[in-house]
Amino acid sequence: MSKYITTPIYYVNGEAHIGHAYTTFIADTTARYERLKGNKTLFLTGTDEHGQKIEESAQKNAKPTQEFADEISATFKNLWDEFEISYSKFIRTTDKDHMVGVQKAFVKMLEKDDIYKDFYEGHYCVSCETFFPETQLVDGEFCPDCGRTTSIVKEESYFFRLSKYEDKLLQHYKENPDFIMPRSRANEITNFVKGGLHDLSVTRTSFTWGVKMPKSLHDDKHVIYVWLDALLNYITALGYGDDEADMNFWPASTHFVGKDILRFHAIYWPAFLMSLDLPLPKTIGAHGWWTRDGEKMSKSKGNVVSPKEVSDAYGVENLRYFMLREVPFGQDGDFSQRALIDRINSELSNDLGNLLNRIIGMSGKYSAYEIDSTDVAKYHTQELDAIDKVLDSLDHYMSEIQIHRYLEELWKLFSIGNAAITEHEPWVKIKDNETDKALATVALVANILAKAAIMLSPIMPKTTTTIANALNFEINNKSYNELVVNKKLLKLFNIKKVPPLFPRVEAPLMQEVLQAEANSSKVEKKSSKKKEKFESAANFGENLIEIGDFFETSLKVGTVLEAENVPKSKKLLKLKVSLGVNDTRQIVAGIRESYSAESLVETQVCVVANLKPTKLMGIMSEGMLLAAKDEDGLSLIRPEKPKKAGTLIG
Ligand code: ME8
Ligand code: MG
Repeated sequence: MSKYITTPIYYVNGEAHIGHAYTTFIADTTARYERLKGNKTLFLTGTDEHGQKIEESAQKNAKPTQEFADEISATFKNLWDEFEISYSKFIRTTDKDHMVGVQKAFVKMLEKDDIYKDFYEGHYCVSCETFFPETQLVDGEFCPDCGRTTSIVKEESYFFRLSKYEDKLLQHYKENPDFIMPRSRANEITNFVKGGLHDLSVTRTSFTWGVKMPKSLHDDKHVIYVWLDALLNYITALGYGDDEADMNFWPASTHFVGKDILRFHAIYWPAFLMSLDLPLPKTIGAHGWWTRDGEKMSKSKGNVVSPKEVSDAYGVENLRYFMLREVPFGQDGDFSQRALIDRINSELSNDLGNLLNRIIGMSGKYSAYEIDSTDVAKYHTQELDAIDKVLDSLDHYMSEIQIHRYLEELWKLFSIGNAAITEHEPWVKIKDNETDKALATVALVANILAKAAIMLSPIMPKTTTTIANALNFEINNKSYNELVVNKKLLKLFNIKKVPPLFPRVEAPLMQEVLQAEANSSKVEKKSSKKKEKFESAANFGENLIEIGDFFETSLKVGTVLEAENVPKSKKLLKLKVSLGVNDTRQIVAGIRESYSAESLVETQVCVVANLKPTKLMGIMSEGMLLAAKDEDGLSLIRPEKPKKAGTLIG
């Protein structure tokens, strides 16, 4: 089967931000997944370079429009190349063959009498390149989409008979429930069309930066409307109106778009295609917005996070994983560095990275790195069944564009692996001379990692290649069929040591973004939501916190200067503890049953330095000592080697 996956073509009025990267990551993941399954896949991305908005941006930058477009287009292409996006073709709407295709489509629509000439007078928003009826304007003046001032434009114009396609569109939505994904968005589109469609102005005379009218019309003062031009990229990229070389990929499997441009893709585009007698795309997948402080991130607003900056700090694959895991497709998400770090440390480093390290370590100790799957089925049928169940569920989530659920499900494999180690304790089996059992458990986990790596490869292609290297196999359609579809196990091999895949990230790496996060009340709301999620996830049997929560506690090394018993108390001692120059605290500690006052003087302790002062038996206490207590009594936690009083712990 052949598949055709697209991203929007991005405007060249500014460089890419993480919103653009998100769409591109989703499309890239989908394309890689289709290829893994053995489907011939064409993946298109590119840049949208015409229209008044681009013309004005170029003027602001004092550059000739084409030169400006060339420069910005290259920044998109370079970024995708640096990110190893697996696009098959990068289209630019200033490409000659694209422009020829657009003109051909225009002529065909004219011949069908779907385009006619008339006058247009209306309120136009340059930023959105859209006319709005007066009734939709905010305060009679401002654009309902972006809030900018609209201007009245009266011009001769060619119109596309959009109204003619109302019923056909409604019928198509009804008969094809997967046409708009998530399905919850279909209502909104259906209602919009039911509200009545006006014919669409598809040429402009007020500026010149666009695809020229077909020569045969002798009407040079018009240029073709940028959205007609832009949408047609999806077929001109296949050779429409030219050599038609790749038209066999049509119709598209999925056009991925942001919800901002769903209407263009779910209403105009299918109407244009009907007019051209071409089949409609299978699915328009509309995702939500990445926001900053609750506002949509956008080039024109300037509140953007640079994907390059994030990937330089955290790695592009970690960013991909985070974005796809964090937000359900279709919903908005606030970009937070803390949430990114949490997922790297807990899901990538702990769940996945450590599992690989453990298996490398154990196999090294028990079998000179040899992994033998022979006995896995004998001792681990239960686990194998559970693994198969997870693997079988994954395709459904990918086809529903529920990538976050796909990943959530996939992570169950690591839980199965970790639980198998805990339950079967290979190190005990080795001691008890049950080597075959121990090695079967190690091999089970190696197989889990191999299968998981295959299914994770569309999201994290490089990392999973490293895992596959360690496990002596290659990720491709063949191994997918063997290990995932046909449920086979790895053949006898020697595991290779690899450096840790996900070094833990200890503190946010992008100061500027962090500052913005700290100022944002939205983020706070979100992180408390996240805490609840973790609490119910029962990770390690603990209530997990975010790293920032930990750093809210100020822990310091202290030197005990003085100590005395608190009268009338069996448990309490009153201490003077130095936390550095000019910071001596009085601390009341309940440790007298384990430590005498004398024994503490001139020793070091660990102090919680930012507790609110409180009174114990009437005596002020300005801190708390760290200690561990079990049935044998209490033991203070102290630095292993003496440290200067006041040294931060963490
Ligand atoms: O609309 N969150 O181009 P564009 C998530 N040229 N995704 C975002 C986003 C955000 N904050 N901001 C942008 C255009 N995007 C037209 C498209 S297609 C024939 C023509 C992503 O540069 C999202 O995919 O404004 C959105 O639809 C797209 O970038 C818009 O990019
Ligand atoms: Mg936009």
